[in-house]
Amino acid sequence: MKNINFRKLLPEKSKIYRTIRLESLEKFPDSFGANYQEALKIEKFPMESHIEKQTRERFVFGAFTDEELIGICSFVKGEDNTGNIYQMYIKKEFQGKNIGQGLLEAVIDEASHTFHGIEILLEVTPGNDKAYKLYKKAGFLEIKSPTTENISNITMKYQV
Ligand SMILES: CC(C)(COP(=O)(O)OP(=O)(O)OC[C@H]1O[C@@H](n2cnc3c(N)ncnc32)[C@H](O)[C@@H]1OP(=O)(O)O)[C@@H](O)C(=O)NCCC(=O)NCCS
Repeated sequence: MKNINFRKLLPEKSKIYRTIRLESLEKFPDSFGANYQEALKIEKFPMESHIEKQTRERFVFGAFTDEELIGICSFVKGEDNTGNIYQMYIKKEFQGKNIGQGLLEAVIDEASHTFHGIEILLEVTPGNDKAYKLYKKAGFLEIKSPTTENISNITMKYQV
């Protein structure tokens, strides 16, 4: 295995971010709320602009082998010192090598250093056991979400 590193995507990576995000929607349609065909029609994703502007409250981390982007994970700051993790994806051929875990930890680390005492939340589709186990292992616990109904995603909160 080549060297893996995790870093915030800089402006010149906005197009490759779009490519890998679309790939994740196409290959894992059950994992995400967004739809591949609909996403194709969107000329520019909001997150592409945030990468280009390097918005402090919204960023994407990438997992890289040398210069190849092989995974992404996004963070969006919310109200009341909360934040959400979205769009977690590792390319299929690199899954199961603890790269997702490393990427998730890098995002938690960045968010916690940028926003002290932040409460980090995420959602996972019921049945996505790989992702659920990854989040559990990284320190997330399932919580009851006040905003969602029974048939919906599982909400998890990071326990510091
Ligand atoms: C979910 C995903 C990001 C995990 O990334 P990954 O790099 O394969 O995961 P890791 O190798 O870092 O695994 C870390 C932990 O996750 C869990 N996990 C990962 N793959 C698993 C599998 N196939 N079965 C069960 N648990 C698994 C395990 O707890 C694992 O720890 P362990 O190796 O000590 O058992 C990746 O499978 C993926 O991109 N899936 C498709 C998109 C998706 O579902 N995204 C999440 C949206 S909420």
